[in-house]
Amino acid sequence: MSIDKKFIDQFVNVTSKAALASSYFVGKKDKLAADKAAVDSMRNELNKINMNGKIVIGEGELDEAPMLYIGENLGTKNGPDFDIAVDPLEGTKFAANNLPGALSVIAISEKNNLFNAPETYMDKIAINSNKKDIVDLDFTVKKNISNLADSLNKGVKEITACLLDRPRHKKIIEELKSLNVNLKLISDGDISGALLVSDKKYNVDIFLGIGGGPEGVLAASALDTFNCHFQGRFLFETDKDKQRANTMGIKDFKRKYELNEIVSGDSIFCATGITSGDLVDGIKMNGNKYISETLVTHKDSNLNKIILKEDIIKT
Ligand code: FBP
Repeated sequence: MSIDKKFIDQFVNVTSKAALASSYFVGKKDKLAADKAAVDSMRNELNKINMNGKIVIGEGELDEAPMLYIGENLGTKNGPDFDIAVDPLEGTKFAANNLPGALSVIAISEKNNLFNAPETYMDKIAINSNKKDIVDLDFTVKKNISNLADSLNKGVKEITACLLDRPRHKKIIEELKSLNVNLKLISDGDISGALLVSDKKYNVDIFLGIGGGPEGVLAASALDTFNCHFQGRFLFETDKDKQRANTMGIKDFKRKYELNEIVSGDSIFCATGITSGDLVDGIKMNGNKYISETLVTHKDSNLNKIILKEDIIKT
């Protein structure tokens, strides 16, 4: 069954309002306040929707997060069953420091079709092809890049790879450099980083490296509509991580997940800009109104577009 298209506008409204709420804290050097504003608004708006929604990726477990916690039921209960993944403020540092790329993000699937991801790191790889044998988390960096270059009919030195600029990626970065690959090193925000493979206009051929697991699931849900290839492998380092994974039904801690094991069936993804970035522009004030830009995907209608929304600011 498809998710009714009428929900698209409703979820765009959810991320737009969360982005607006967070935007008042842009540049205030307060990550927590910017996050809390987005969380409060998102929860409030989700509760108005005629659905029986369940958070599968949220702000943490109930003991850590009073709102949008994993397992929380949201909506009027009068409507379809949805799984919901949220990142009300993706790029807390971007918002706090008034830097490009802060987003408010949500993904919705039909019940039981979105991976219940633990709050651990995930090793990720994404390219714009639905062929599965071009790149793989188990291939070497060299093999991935040369396979990708061949498939794109490009030279290796024409390939651009995006990854988080982190000490843990030192070896990969050195390998990419020695291959003469162009690097796009991002300081934060790897949902956006992964989505840069979705369109040639971003000039990114491959996204790879380790970032947040929840961010991986959210990116995968949008990449599904763009017919991209995505793999993720959670990294369970501590006993606590492993116990938590176990309670979520994960038995093989080294398992590599393909995109359609992370999200299946129909889905909607919305990412609204808080500050302007590669994907969308941030919130703009216009008298008593605000304008938001949201990247939206809807799998079953093959929709992927940026929706501009103007709305009155309610005080
Ligand atoms: P926050 O918005 O929670 O600060 O996350 C930003 C982010 O860059 C994510 O996009 C990414 O997945 C994760 O942090 C990477 O984590 P780390 O900073 O520990 O490398």
